[in-house]
Amino acid sequence: MPQISPFKIGQTTIDPPLILAPMAGISHSPFRRLVAGFKPPGLFFSEMLSARHLPCDVKKKSPWLRSSALEHPMAWQIVAPSPEEAALGAAHLTQAEIIDLNLACPAPNIARRRAGGHLLSDLQLTDSIIKAVRQATPRAMTVKIRLGKKPDLVFLGELAAVIEKNGVDAITLHPRLTTEKLKRRARWEYIGHLKTMVKIPVIGNGDVNSREDCLKMTAQTGCDGVMIGRAAVRRPWIFAEIGGIEQEISPEFLLRTYEELFNEIINFFPPRMAIGRIKEFTWHFSTNLKFGHRLAARLQSLKDIDSCRDFIRENFITAC
Ligand SMILES: Cc1cc2nc3c(=O)[nH]c(=O)nc-3n(C[C@H](O)[C@H](O)[C@H](O)COP(=O)(O)O)c2cc1C
Repeated sequence: MPQISPFKIGQTTIDPPLILAPMAGISHSPFRRLVAGFKPPGLFFSEMLSARHLPCDVKKKSPWLRSSALEHPMAWQIVAPSPEEAALGAAHLTQAEIIDLNLACPAPNIARRRAGGHLLSDLQLTDSIIKAVRQATPRAMTVKIRLGKKPDLVFLGELAAVIEKNGVDAITLHPRLTTEKLKRRARWEYIGHLKTMVKIPVIGNGDVNSREDCLKMTAQTGCDGVMIGRAAVRRPWIFAEIGGIEQEISPEFLLRTYEELFNEIINFFPPRMAIGRIKEFTWHFSTNLKFGHRLAARLQSLKDIDSCRDFIRENFITAC
């Protein structure tokens, strides 16, 4: 089987070349630390941060701007609809080693603000936003993209040229159309196409669920790094698995892992933020349990942390 080698983003070595994806509501510090406890990936990502709110978030030391030495190196992802907001946000991320610009998110609230994946319908605006971030910060800069409105190699080539000419240090491609749901197959062949279009490192993303998938994506596309999202939420030990560390999965192990994150979240976030994050994680993690869907669905209706804790204690093991 082919092996994957470390690569660099700016001055930062990404070793192993595996990346924990940015996931709003999930890739916060407690979750990143849980993953790191099994085996850290070569690069962590923050949750997506609104560039417009960053000056205020920095002042308030908002929880989503906190990270520990375990979550290192880290790319902080910003989303912005204009060059002005993007530059303002990037300039405030003085703690960042790497700043990532989100050109991928299809969520309706982001599309309404004409940011994220929506920007790919206007290459000129995309160009000026990338330029603004590049000029606002001396940090390494990456971008995360989708394919845009349709699978189109001409468009991908134009977008790649805009990204590379502005001095971006690496690109992540999540090869789905901007409007496509995550159930549709990711078109890995476009990662291979992108790799032939640019000299900077390319990170492939989408539907990697195992060590085998990871090696397959690398062999098929030639990508420099592999980003993993949902599979790392279902199995926070996935980077250890890919590194050859076997994990014995028992009901007790699953409960211990779940409760570790639960407790970290409630110690880290105020209650009104903690409960949403616990519920979001539960949807993904409960897929490890035979009756997990029912458990996660029932948890959604609970209103406070104590009820969630009691419910999990009473029902988790029987749901396995
Ligand atoms: C709950 C959730 C939240 C996400 N939030 C973000 C985000 O904030 N920024 C981003 O670029 N992508 C976001 N994504 C997309 C992931 O980073 C990734 O591109 C996608 O899940 C495909 O990778 P996977 O098949 O490994 O999950 C999110 C995905 C999920 C499931």
